[in-house]
Amino acid sequence: MAILITGVAGFIGSNLARKLLSEGKAVIGLDNLCRGSMANMADFAQHPQFVFHEIDLTDLASYQACVSQYALKHPISEVWHLAANSDIPAGISDAAIDLRDTFMSTYNTLEVMKRLDIPALCFASTSAVYGDLGERLLQEDIGPLFPISNYGAMKLASEALISASVESFLKSAYIFRFPNVIGTPATHGVILDFIEKLKKTPDHLEVLGNGSQRKAYLHVDELIDAMLYIQSQARAPLNYFNIGAGDEGIFVRDIAQLVVAAVSPHATIAYGEGDKGWVGDVPRFSYSIEKLRKLGWRPKLGSVQAVQLAIKQIVADLSRA
Ligand SMILES: NC(=O)c1ccc[n+]([C@@H]2O[C@H](COP(=O)([O-])OP(=O)(O)OC[C@H]3O[C@@H](n4cnc5c(N)ncnc54)[C@H](O)[C@@H]3O)[C@@H](O)[C@H]2O)c1
Repeated sequence: MAILITGVAGFIGSNLARKLLSEGKAVIGLDNLCRGSMANMADFAQHPQFVFHEIDLTDLASYQACVSQYALKHPISEVWHLAANSDIPAGISDAAIDLRDTFMSTYNTLEVMKRLDIPALCFASTSAVYGDLGERLLQEDIGPLFPISNYGAMKLASEALISASVESFLKSAYIFRFPNVIGTPATHGVILDFIEKLKKTPDHLEVLGNGSQRKAYLHVDELIDAMLYIQSQARAPLNYFNIGAGDEGIFVRDIAQLVVAAVSPHATIAYGEGDKGWVGDVPRFSYSIEKLRKLGWRPKLGSVQAVQLAIKQIVADLSRA
């Protein structure tokens, strides 16, 4: 049996594919390379158990044709749907981006799964579905949910569609809600953003917002470990879990200082105004991973350690490129 990963050329997708291949699984990976790249898959692209197709998931006919062709020889047991827009500000400027890449990609994935009788779905959701609930502890069953970004809205709509699909044809679904994930190969995010800015202006770093945003960060290795753990342990038809570092997080100003120290120690840091990096940014939230702890998984790294490790890895990765 094979596993289908959408968004395989992206940050999390390429790490997941590598992990599953190392466990002896066969993987078919799909991506339109709008944000991911072949370079992210360079070390496993030729693996005998791996097949890649460049395809836009919003084109249902091509998506269906590609997967059914593969499934003739290798029945597919589960789909990991990771493809989505990962640029939240871009999705605020143009709502069509999240409608297409975040929601329609899910709709079409479910259509293909239904037509080909693929029984299980693992879905990369996000803390953005909760919206801005201030100081309230974000537990999985809190509500009502009113996202404040188009990205969060289209992820929440995707969750709703997955829930309805479990009622009608899916045997099992896993919804993983995670906040900021970091590591390599970085395709977006605050650390990469700071490093790229410092490359352009080595003596000066401009930070979006006043630096008081405080968020929890999880290393990608831990995220994958947690998702596979949940998949192996949770047995309901519809399983939904927060995954995170389980701590209060780290301030953006501290991340800025750590990146400056690693990349350009003499740079000065200039902060913007307000506590939001962009429209749709949730500046602080308190994230519960109690449900996941009860299931038996806990993170090894706190947010600060994850950020320190990711800075080291991203700097090394970029210097090789
Ligand atoms: N990285 C994070 O901090 C984070 C946090 C919460 C949730 N997530 C979710 O995890 C998943 C993976 O995120 P990531 O950080 O690896 O992002 P990423 O941008 O690196 O990967 C997403 C991949 O999807 C592909 N893609 C987008 N639209 C597509 C389409 N229409 N057809 C085919 N491929 C398409 C992109 O080319 C990219 O390779 C996403 O669903 C994201 O919303 C990520």
